[in-house]
Amino acid sequence: MNKMVVANFKMNLSLEDVELYVQQLKGNISDKVNVVICPSFPFLFMFKSDEYKVGAQNSFYLNEGSFTGEVSTTQLKSLGVSYIIVGHSERRLYSKEDNDLINNKIKNILSNNLKPILCIGETKEERALHKTSIVIKKQIEQCLKDMDKDMLSDLTIAYEPIWAIGSGLTPKIVEIEETVNYIKTICLSKYKADNIKVLYGGSVNRNNIREINNIGGLDGVLVGSASWSARGLIEIVNNIE
Ligand code: 13P
Repeated sequence: MNKMVVANFKMNLSLEDVELYVQQLKGNISDKVNVVICPSFPFLFMFKSDEYKVGAQNSFYLNEGSFTGEVSTTQLKSLGVSYIIVGHSERRLYSKEDNDLINNKIKNILSNNLKPILCIGETKEERALHKTSIVIKKQIEQCLKDMDKDMLSDLTIAYEPIWAIGSGLTPKIVEIEETVNYIKTICLSKYKADNIKVLYGGSVNRNNIREINNIGGLDGVLVGSASWSARGLIEIVNNIE
């Protein structure tokens, strides 16, 4: 199966930047990699191509209504979005999202036949206390509450240690491998789900992508700052085939 590269622009790039990005990307993305580009909401419609898929960075947990400032999964679907990042640590931190809300968002995304990318990961303090496995298990169990194997067939989980995001630091390769396989084991034993894809995210860049890509059981990467230029993303994708 093709590896995945998910590009999370976060709150970056202007209209001008995006115009240039789209132009530079054209014809430069390998069809051997499943690339998902997640720009800010206003620019989603500008990313339409057979070369990659488009993802959103967030969505609301209801389909419509009086929820000023929110964007629904159904609206995103009408724009051609196929993936939605949910539960990113930055949303947990700055928008106070908790596992219950994330659970509702995932249910809504799945009910609209889109693919959630659930982000989980431990803080620096939790890691220092050797609590990574406990934290991850709790996040999975609470975020995937009331779900079964069939519902989870479209789910991707991204393991993003919070301390590794934007810091230039990553866990050791063997630690990533252990955690990725631990996540798969939980999904198998708890939900009988044997086809969940697991990505790694947190300071993935041109220098470490090859080594990370070789990790056994890993299905791809979730990339932040290294994907904020088309050249940067192309470089990551070229190293992952
Ligand atoms: P960086 O690649 O900039 O560390 O960001 C990772 C991330 O948060 C992707 O969702």
